[in-house]
Amino acid sequence: METKELITQALSARENAYAPYSGFSVGAALQATDGRMFLGCNVENASYSMTICAERNAVLQAIAAGQRSFRSIAIVGGKTAEEARETPCVPCGACLQVLAEFCDGDFPILLTDGVHLLRDFLPQAFTL
Ligand code: THU
Repeated sequence: METKELITQALSARENAYAPYSGFSVGAALQATDGRMFLGCNVENASYSMTICAERNAVLQAIAAGQRSFRSIAIVGGKTAEEARETPCVPCGACLQVLAEFCDGDFPILLTDGVHLLRDFLPQAFTL
């Protein structure tokens, strides 16, 4: 699937975000190596720290479905749909660490400003 198409999927996942506290809605589209697509959005909570990010939501859905091998992830975020289309949303450190559990450094992270690699954002993931 092309970058533009994956970004479109992430934008549609963002529409389902539950973000009443921050007002910042995030969507992620995780493409598995078998072609399946796993979508995620952020889900906030009145107990703020219980919030789940969009990227981790997508990864956890894939793992629960039995898929652990991924081709790329598209991520969008913003307070408005326009902001989400135009301003790149870099994944947080926690989500990068979770991606690093299943993906190599050359895993492509597709943002609205182009393609980045996991190692660009997380040069040194924690390992045991
Ligand atoms: N958020 C994500 O969904 N992904 C990230 O990588 C960073 C932040 C969410 C969490 C929270 O609901 C909102 O964005 C504002 O921090």
